[in-house]
Amino acid sequence: MNTDLFGEAPRRASAADIKRVKDLHVQLHAHAHRYYVLDDPQVPDAEYDRLFRELQALEAAHPELQSPDSPTQRVGGKPLAQFASVRHKVPMLSIRTETDTEASGAKNFDTRVRKELGLKEGDPEVEYVAELKFDGLAMNLRYENGVLVQAATRGDGEVGEEVTQNMRTVRQIPLKLPADAPEVIEVRGEVYMRRADFEALNERQREKIAKGAKGEKTFVNPRNAAAGGVRQLDPAIAADRSLSFFAYGLGEITPPEQGGPVFGTHLQLLLTLKSWGFPVAAQTSPAQGATELIAFHENMRRQRDALPYDIDGVVYKVNSLELQRQLGFVTREPRWAVAHKYPAQEQLTTVLAIDVQVGRTGKLTPVAKLAPVFVGGVTVTNATLHNEDEARRKDVRVGDTVIVRRAGDVIPEVVGVMPEKRQEGALQFTMPRQCPVCGSDAVREEGEADYRCTGGLFCGAQRKEAILHYAHRRAVEIEGLGDKLVEQMVDASIIRTLPDLYKLGLTSLAGLDRMAEKSAQNLLEALEKSKQTTLPRFIFGLGIRHVGEATAKALAKHFGKLDGIMGVTAEDAPSTERLAEVDDVGPIVAESIHTFFQQPHNREVVEQLRACGVRWEEGDPAPRAFLPLSGKTFVITGTLPTLSRDEAKNRVEAAGGKVAGSVSKKTHFVVAGEDAGSKLVKAQELGIEVIDEAGLLRLLATAA
Ligand code: IVH
Repeated sequence: MNTDLFGEAPRRASAADIKRVKDLHVQLHAHAHRYYVLDDPQVPDAEYDRLFRELQALEAAHPELQSPDSPTQRVGGKPLAQFASVRHKVPMLSIRTETDTEASGAKNFDTRVRKELGLKEGDPEVEYVAELKFDGLAMNLRYENGVLVQAATRGDGEVGEEVTQNMRTVRQIPLKLPADAPEVIEVRGEVYMRRADFEALNERQREKIAKGAKGEKTFVNPRNAAAGGVRQLDPAIAADRSLSFFAYGLGEITPPEQGGPVFGTHLQLLLTLKSWGFPVAAQTSPAQGATELIAFHENMRRQRDALPYDIDGVVYKVNSLELQRQLGFVTREPRWAVAHKYPAQEQLTTVLAIDVQVGRTGKLTPVAKLAPVFVGGVTVTNATLHNEDEARRKDVRVGDTVIVRRAGDVIPEVVGVMPEKRQEGALQFTMPRQCPVCGSDAVREEGEADYRCTGGLFCGAQRKEAILHYAHRRAVEIEGLGDKLVEQMVDASIIRTLPDLYKLGLTSLAGLDRMAEKSAQNLLEALEKSKQTTLPRFIFGLGIRHVGEATAKALAKHFGKLDGIMGVTAEDAPSTERLAEVDDVGPIVAESIHTFFQQPHNREVVEQLRACGVRWEEGDPAPRAFLPLSGKTFVITGTLPTLSRDEAKNRVEAAGGKVAGSVSKKTHFVVAGEDAGSKLVKAQELGIEVIDEAGLLRLLATAA
């Protein structure tokens, strides 16, 4: 029996191994098809790589399981039927990936190269060229007599697809080369999309979707968008993708004996390509030995997120073309090049829950709680879903398998879900209508993306902010109560809500950091002093959303008393209109004040503050502006001859009236137009005055 290096007999493949290999074939073929043929990958690259490596490992352990149709025996996928096939004159190889993502992984490559070249310790360093590994797709550009005649994708490395039309739309690709270019030359490089172009494309896609365009979608990342653009049958769509290109190598070229150029090094080749008009990344640089490769890897890792495009690693190539020839190939990978990746920025994981977090200012943010996953160099367990619309757009549900992205220091993001893995019965996410921290109403104002908790004074999440605002110099003013102190007092649970401030004593303060008895005494005095305040300062100090100093002053002037404001908002619907009579107060502000004082907790805090001795001088309410229809409720029904329903409503409201949706005993007038139905009947039953449009216009005219 054969034994391996360690003298152990290799284990025979078990039934489970055989099944797993079959399973991996099916999965890898399916993923490769989605990736290469449909441009619509289901899984992030890292997941594909993982499955691929698992299969490689199984095949290595049990060579009898390796079959010619294994995905490990073929790279890429079949071209789409619609494109013409192109057989590459020189196969488009792939490069071996160094699995170690640590910078030191570069050493393995250098060691292999040195060994292959028969170099001993003490022999000079091998010279390399270090390049970026662009995250796009490989392209072969064929020029004959200086003219771009054909562009082809890599396909399976032997046969690709002809995408000449589409590549002609890429501005960075020269259509014509200078006279010193050889008769035949194939330039190879990467087609990719810059991040800014990608964001702009997705923005355009979102607009199209919002306008109801069918069959449009947003893209998960620049690479998918670029791949989709390259493989468009319609070159106009490819042009719309704003693709970019970097050159990094050669395919066929006129041989020197037929007058073709002679290159000694890879760097020389790149510089020549550059002189012919091809973009070559500025970061490309020569590197002596492993040390400089390691430094390059490290350096680029730091620059990675600042680059205007995605890279997934760096590539090292032996610089001397003669040494490249000596090194040759193993199967389909050159021994003279290696891809050295960075930790993947995208991974798959599952959504354990969707929590809603409340920020310091009351903003509610849905957050996906994830099964821990290592992505972008850290373990991620949370990803923000930003707001309700975003959560809906992505349609993330509990139990879903999602793609998580973390690039640089940017907060981790769910970039997409895999609907095919969704469990049956998974519910769509809905934003809670109550604050998860304090139970107050959560509201989303018109035109706003965010829900906000309205329990500003009471909400635990907003505690620090609320106290600081109240204590502000222009609000109630508590001298010496700054953010450090508030932070400490809240964290130590010495204060929970505003009234607790006035219950502080020397003993509770003395326990705080950097709080000498003298400063504690000063704070208590400042608190005592703050009790005598003014109504506008107090109103401003409550921190009601949209109520700044000017609005607080206007409210105080208009109502004279706090009870006036709170009272008016305690009544139901008409309150917002009464509030809107105040100078400076529009419907959104009115609504915000109304909701604030509707929260029982907020009212309680105000009462407690008064009970603690906070006081101000009150005045008389300003005489109310005469609004002729105020106090009158209208119901509009049927089609009016000239006014639309909205116009009629606006005019009634402008004159101080209220428009209700249904007829009740409280209705004063029913305005009936053509085809008025049940509301008219109800009005007649209740004996409510029914008028027509002309009657309404007369009322409004006397009002004016
Ligand atoms: S050289 C024989 N250089 O990575 C070497 N490839 O498998 C051929 N890639 O899909 C490739 N940046 O498109 C090379 N600077 C670079 C690259 C690069 C990205 C892609 C290439 C191919 C894959 C290598």
